[in-house]
Amino acid sequence: MIAAAAGFTAAAVAAPSLKDAYRGDFVVGAALNSAQIADRARSDAIVKAQFNAISPENALKWENIHPQPDKYDFTTADAYVAFGEKNHMFIVGHCLLWHNQTPAWVFRDENGKLLDRERLLARLRDHIRTIVGRYKGRIKAWDVVNEAVGEDGSMRPSLWYTIIGEDYVAKAFEYAHEADPDAELNYNDYSLENPAKRAGAVALIKKLKAAGVPVTTVGLQGHYSLDWPTIPQLDETISAFAALGVKIAITELDIDVLPPATKEETAEVTLNVQSDPALNPYGNGLPDAVQQSLTQRYGELFAEFRSRKDVIDRVTLWGVTDYESWRNNWPVAGRTAYPLLFDRACQPKPAFDAVIAAAQNPAR
Ligand code: G3I
Repeated sequence: MIAAAAGFTAAAVAAPSLKDAYRGDFVVGAALNSAQIADRARSDAIVKAQFNAISPENALKWENIHPQPDKYDFTTADAYVAFGEKNHMFIVGHCLLWHNQTPAWVFRDENGKLLDRERLLARLRDHIRTIVGRYKGRIKAWDVVNEAVGEDGSMRPSLWYTIIGEDYVAKAFEYAHEADPDAELNYNDYSLENPAKRAGAVALIKKLKAAGVPVTTVGLQGHYSLDWPTIPQLDETISAFAALGVKIAITELDIDVLPPATKEETAEVTLNVQSDPALNPYGNGLPDAVQQSLTQRYGELFAEFRSRKDVIDRVTLWGVTDYESWRNNWPVAGRTAYPLLFDRACQPKPAFDAVIAAAQNPAR
């Protein structure tokens, strides 16, 4: 089994590595699922050979690590942190507060009534202090608040927002800082490249910084397509946040080549669009022309990241191989997606070569 897996990934392991190519620029990460964390996925050899940072795709989300009021389950999270330490990786925590993958009980009392502000804050503080405290000094960066801003730039009307008010964001950062004063604390969101949403997030971060809230980093998730965002749009976005005195991380990079199933660029996970063969055109493989577009796109994105290495300290891909990507099941179930740098057979794709090449060209 192990020998077969090694054969499978031999080319990816022997290839030049992403982590070495960008050493001195930024760390290059991958999000891991539970099989990869358990070190029983055929892509684990790629993770170890290619990446020097990891994020947990689901293991640290509230519903998994804190499924019931008095029950924390650290099994997978402990294994995740041990995996990162064993392989000398920069370990990221994702995520402390989100409107998704949070159990309904979090917002309700014993009688099923919505909590008031003080009780919900107390619950949030307990959650954050327990988890951040447990991995203090080991998890180096936390996505503290995930996706608080809506597409139009207003605050997302989640239960966090409606029960606590806008300062729930500041409180979450304060609780995380209390529990680990040395950790990087990240505000993480998607589609910040779009002007309206970006303006809302810039206003939020500005306000937090002015109030002395310990936010250190803004995470651009990076769920991109072949033509969105444009490089100038991305560059302006990086500049807009860097001007506020925070670092930038690209936290969940992948590139969609499939026909768009929605009008807006979004990564809203609750979307569910009905299957339709027209939305799944590459079930038998990717045409050369699309492969080339993807290759060029990855190359230009990494050239851009490298040209902003003064403010970007991490670029993390949301997965390792196309086979494992969430994109195969979102927003349409059962599609064949091609968003990452390694293919379904664990081989490096032409896009991988383009990313390595972008590290060798003089920075723009
Ligand atoms: O828990 C069940 C498991 O018991 C079952 O065996 C399995 C079989 O399909 O399904 C499991 O749950 C799935 C879970 O991933 C683990 O695989 C959920 O149905 C599925 O919805 C969930 O999707 C995750 C998604 O967040 C949900 O919110 C994706 O893996 C994960 O990649 C994705 O990550 C988010 C980031 O956290 C935030 N930004 C957007 C990004 C992409 O959606």
